[in-house]
Amino acid sequence: MSSAIPSSAVPIPSTFSAEAYFSTQLPPPGLEAEVNGVREFLHRQNAAGRKVVLVTSGGTTVPLELNVVRFLDNFSAGTRGATSAEYFLEAGYAVIFMHRQFSLQPFSRHYSHSTNPFLDFLEIETSTSTSSSTSDFDSPSPTDSNTQLPVFEPDEEVPRICVTASKRADLLRVLTAYRAVQKAGTLHTVTFVTVNEYLWLLRAISHELAFSGRRAMYYLAAAVSDFFLPTQKMSEHKIQSGKGSLVIEMDQVPKILKPMVDEWTPEGFIVSFKLETDPKLLVPKARQALERYGHQVVIGNDLHRRKFEVVFVSRPGDSGDIKESWLRLDEEEVKDGKEIEKDIISELVQRHLAWIGVTI
Ligand code: PMT
Repeated sequence: MSSAIPSSAVPIPSTFSAEAYFSTQLPPPGLEAEVNGVREFLHRQNAAGRKVVLVTSGGTTVPLELNVVRFLDNFSAGTRGATSAEYFLEAGYAVIFMHRQFSLQPFSRHYSHSTNPFLDFLEIETSTSTSSSTSDFDSPSPTDSNTQLPVFEPDEEVPRICVTASKRADLLRVLTAYRAVQKAGTLHTVTFVTVNEYLWLLRAISHELAFSGRRAMYYLAAAVSDFFLPTQKMSEHKIQSGKGSLVIEMDQVPKILKPMVDEWTPEGFIVSFKLETDPKLLVPKARQALERYGHQVVIGNDLHRRKFEVVFVSRPGDSGDIKESWLRLDEEEVKDGKEIEKDIISELVQRHLAWIGVTI
């Protein structure tokens, strides 16, 4: 690769263990401030006796240049994470929502600009003003010309914005839940873009959450890149074209579930996701992940069936045997707009309570 940054005094390993990764790749700026925010949030939630879940969501990027113009990305809109976060909040959990910048978020996801743009269900109605007035908004600030609203003369038609009647019930439901969560202060968001930011944040937040012991759940729905380019091997400037094909050799991202389970948060209830596109590989790979990392649940999902079918892979009870159980929505449920995350979270909440040792 052209104009690689000279490597530092630290030798670059040929394969990265988690330890080698964190000792050679720099933490993102602002990490400490993010962790302080999480710490304060956890302090409040622990005082209120709430269970806490860390939800990771969205794809991670791998920059190819230090002054980044090009990057690789992992598929994920953030639907799974954002939807699940809402159901966790509904179940009484405090949620740390660690997501890819600009991916879907709880509540606002219902009004995504691409699938349900909110401007499409706002209507303008007009009524005649009786006295000189502005339209139905707060008075504009005299200092900000952008907020200046028109002043209407008596008898002039005044526009009012309202929500299309058919959309009101849904909006009211979402808005009510959103306001309740804001009031309770049970949602804390943290953002990442690159896989490096993701890994540093995950480690730091896991360390904080470890103090919550068994009351903490980890729901790792983010799509984490398996390959990366160490900063020491990156081109400083935009990779130039004109020299034929581009060959990049990437290193493997360390499997961070292992240190997470063994060292960072040994008591946490850890749920990871396994994404496959070949249905034949889904169960074997999910079983392999559970065997390799020794955490509590792997949820397997096939790329094309993930909205209505997932498989839970775990060791139920005290038995050493790994078992699978499928969770599916039927056609009627799909037609009615039921979200599979509702059933996933309901199942996980039961399992988490059992893990904590609560009988219901
Ligand atoms: O957001 P949507 O569009 O709704 O899509 C949701 C989803 C399909 C992305 C989500 O449901 C999902 O499957 N997320 C996990 C994707 C993924 O990273 O799969 P994987 O098979 O590459 O990794 C499996 C697990 O290993 C993950 O839990 C991950 O945390 C973990 N991992 C991954 C890479 C790495 N270096 N270390 C890890 O420990």
